[in-house]
Amino acid sequence: MQRPRRSCLAVPGSNPRMLEKAQGLSADQVFLDLEDAVAPLAKAGARDNIVAALNTGDWRGKTRVVRVNDWTTAWTVHDVLAIVGGAGANLDCVMLPKVQSAEHIVALDLLLTQLERTYGLPVGRIGIEAQIENARGLVNVDAIAAASPRLETVIFGPADFMASINMRSLVVGEQPPGYDTGDAYHYILMRILMAARANDLQAIDGPYLQVRDTEAFRRVAARSAALGFDGKWALHPDQIAAANEEYTPPQADYDRAEHILDAYAFATSDEGGRRGAVMLGDEMIDEASRKMALVIATKGRAAGLTRTATAGA
Ligand code: GLV
Ligand code: MG
Repeated sequence: MQRPRRSCLAVPGSNPRMLEKAQGLSADQVFLDLEDAVAPLAKAGARDNIVAALNTGDWRGKTRVVRVNDWTTAWTVHDVLAIVGGAGANLDCVMLPKVQSAEHIVALDLLLTQLERTYGLPVGRIGIEAQIENARGLVNVDAIAAASPRLETVIFGPADFMASINMRSLVVGEQPPGYDTGDAYHYILMRILMAARANDLQAIDGPYLQVRDTEAFRRVAARSAALGFDGKWALHPDQIAAANEEYTPPQADYDRAEHILDAYAFATSDEGGRRGAVMLGDEMIDEASRKMALVIATKGRAAGLTRTATAGA
């Protein structure tokens, strides 16, 4: 069972007020950040704040994640040690940024296993979320996504990624000026989505930095939601509600999906004549239609949708 992750709220670990406020927001997931939202001189204090917030805060209904610093820094081991040692029982996943190879994941997996043993925690319970944020990470994404049974998500990190490939733009998530055809992110999003799905992981879209422009956030979110992504980061409370909506199937699609499931279950039954391909209104449906409908129905049910009374026709 995958966790809901339509909205993944970034919370700087150096800001106790935001660590407090985040608990009252309706994000499916929070990630308490030790990486790029925290200045180097504030990293040690942020570890303490995060441990305290995980242990004493009320995070019910939310997936609790901590983003540690990446393996090229001096901080990763100390971050993981502090967080798992201090609050391992109150932590669902560790997010690893700037993953460049499967070894980065394996190293974190081994470290987590050792710490779980040390602190008497169930071995293998803490999950890993992998951020793909540079060219090397993307070319290795298939191996990265298969590198550990702890992996739960593959995440696109557009800001670092744009820097890594020298994309000529300063507006994260928007099309680079001068690129007047197609979607400059399509290939990247699709590679991440393929690697995620091939390994039964969730695919998560990254941040949109123009936090006051919720309509633009929705436009960008709707694109990755349409491709099949499960959720997106939120940097601001207004982005949470928008993400929760954009990554929930529209009610009409949900109703139609449930209707297809019922109709196909009947068609294939004894009473329905054991038929594998039938007309439903003007559309021919078969086993593949059932699978497509199941994806939408499952996402809708997870988001709490229920069928409207007149659904289906
Ligand atoms: C997120 O970490 C990004 O770089 O976009
Ligand atoms: Mg980044």
